[in-house]
Order: sequence, then C-alpha cells, then structure tokens
Amino acid sequence: MIEAKIKQTLRDVADFPKPGIIFKDITPVLHDPILCAEITQALALQLADIKIDVVAGIESRGFLFGLALAQELKVPFVPIRKAGKLPYKTIQQSYDLEYGSATLEVHEDAFKPGQNVLIHDDLLATGGTVVAASKLVNLLQANVAAYSFLISLDFLNGRDRLTSFSPNTFSLAKF
Ligand code: PRP
Ligand code: MG
Repeated sequence: MIEAKIKQTLRDVADFPKPGIIFKDITPVLHDPILCAEITQALALQLADIKIDVVAGIESRGFLFGLALAQELKVPFVPIRKAGKLPYKTIQQSYDLEYGSATLEVHEDAFKPGQNVLIHDDLLATGGTVVAASKLVNLLQANVAAYSFLISLDFLNGRDRLTSFSPNTFSLAKF
C-alpha cells in the first residue's frame, strides 16, 4: 500500500520550525526514486475520473510532485509562487499564517477562463495556503477541479475550508 510506504518513509522531526511542532519531512521520500514514481502514479490514479486541464503546484514543496503529476496527466504545469518571484505580470492573494501573513502570486495568463485546475501541494494542514491558491484560480475565472496532496493532517480540518471551491480533495497519506 502506497499510504503505508509513505508513512514508513517520512521522517518526523520534533520541534521544527518551532517548539511543539512535529514536522513531516518528505526528504527521505525524495531519496527513493521507485517510491517517487509510485507516488506520481498514485496521485494520477486518484484523479482518473476528474477532468483536469492544468496542474498548479504551490511553491516550494508543491513543485516537487506537481510537475511530475502534470507530466503523468499530460497537461500543462503552472507554478504558484511566493510574492516577488515571478517575472511577468501577476495577480496576488494574501493569506494568514499562524504568525503574520504571506502572499502567493501567479502569472495573469496562467489559466484561461473556464479551465479546470488541479491544485497540488505536498501537505494540507490548516488549508490557508491552498485557499489562497484557489482564490487566484477563481480570479482568473478558472475552476478548481480538485486538490491533491501527498499528506493531509486531517485532525486540523483543513478539508472543510476547501469544499466551497471543489468537492474533490485527495491525499495519499492521512494523519
Ligand atoms: C507548508 C506546506 C504547505 C503548507 C500547508 O509550506 O508545504 O504548502 O505549509 O500549510 P497550511 O495548510 O496550514 O496552509 P510552507 O509555507 O512551510 O513553505 P514551503 O513549501 O516552501 O516549505
Ligand atoms: Mg508549502
């Protein structure tokens, strides 16, 4: 089972980035090329019944499997980046972090109106990051077709914040 393999391979790091947080470190997963290929195929399989025109991955860890997934699905990949990184004209969306706020950007021509966008990130925690990404998709009059994550921390209930954008949220390893 892919879920068991991911959970066995992930590394829990205590007190990172601050005391009391147990960080899910995916670098041991990235070290295993066979598991990475299996993950890419499993992410694509979960989406088999959903029409997807483009995959959007969120900087930075959403880039790792986001591009691989887009290649597997044979659709374009769009990077959603943290503020100030994209070179062309952008639209922006701010979101709250536990302390302070952050801003995501996407190129203004990244999605065409009516396109069905799969939003990919490595991990779903509170959902604040993918909600901001979803607003960027909707600002360009595109639709959020589904969300896909490697890992979801379901005890934080981030899924509940996504249902108003799309009913489809998938993750390979649930905690
Ligand atoms: C982490 C993770 C997700 C987000 C999840 O990214 O990769 O993108 O937090 O949290 P949320 O659901 O509460 O919004 P982070 O902002 O640490 O940056 P990184 O991917 O560049 O490491
Ligand atoms: Mg991230």
